[in-house]
Amino acid sequence: MNESDFGIIPQRCADTGEAFTALRRDGAVILCGAGSTRDDARSLAQRVLAPLAPVVPDPAPIKEGGGNRDNSYRTSDLNEAFAVPFQSGHTDGFAYGDKYPDFIFLLCVRPAVAGGESFVVDTQRIVAALRASGDADDAAFADFLYTVPIEQTEPGFVPSVAPTIGANGRGRRMARWTPVQRPDARVTVAEQQRQQAWIERWRAITYSASLAAPRFVLQAGEAICLDNYRVLHGRTGFDDLERSLWRIWAWTTESLGIPDGLLFSDSRYAVVD
Ligand SMILES: [Fe+2]
Repeated sequence: MNESDFGIIPQRCADTGEAFTALRRDGAVILCGAGSTRDDARSLAQRVLAPLAPVVPDPAPIKEGGGNRDNSYRTSDLNEAFAVPFQSGHTDGFAYGDKYPDFIFLLCVRPAVAGGESFVVDTQRIVAALRASGDADDAAFADFLYTVPIEQTEPGFVPSVAPTIGANGRGRRMARWTPVQRPDARVTVAEQQRQQAWIERWRAITYSASLAAPRFVLQAGEAICLDNYRVLHGRTGFDDLERSLWRIWAWTTESLGIPDGLLFSDSRYAVVD
């Protein structure tokens, strides 16, 4: 199995209809000439996903620097044990549990002077490679990913116990890699150990795929559009304090469901008591 086969370089296009077609086909696309304002950010998500009547909450301004060197970032102030290396391709919005956003967008306002390169990993290619290898262990691993519920709750947020690669019940797979995935504490110790081994293999294969994935740089006015059910995304480290972008999360008619209550393009409203 060749980890370099799982990364993709999204097609660039300027037309939102064309972008939707490419997004469907590849799981990711880059929309050019998408603007720079908060309104531009929300509008681009609405326009690209128009055929799927998306719910698009307020975009979140992302401006990170310093502290975002290559070593790690924190997924949550609530549990620093889940720090992960920067390279890992991940799923966004997992604080919402199973109702995580099915599409996400990142609109670049100002790229980093150096670093901050993006990459995308296609989980469908990983599963296809596991199925095609002819190896019984690979097949068992793929079965685990599709069928065995694991603990996916980010502490303090919406609970989720679900397979690593779930389904929306209407033909759409829901893959996740998050740093909080762990064995289901309600099963036997032996089963937890079995789950831990598979979860570690999932971490390792997505990490290797992230390291091997081709890099690309989003320029000002370019937005990456991602099928957050299908692809993992990540970036390399950077120190430029002026790098800035808009993050937009979206829930379409194809999502498992829209979370109750207020929505934003970060996890602030996914906190549970
Ligand atoms: Fe992300």
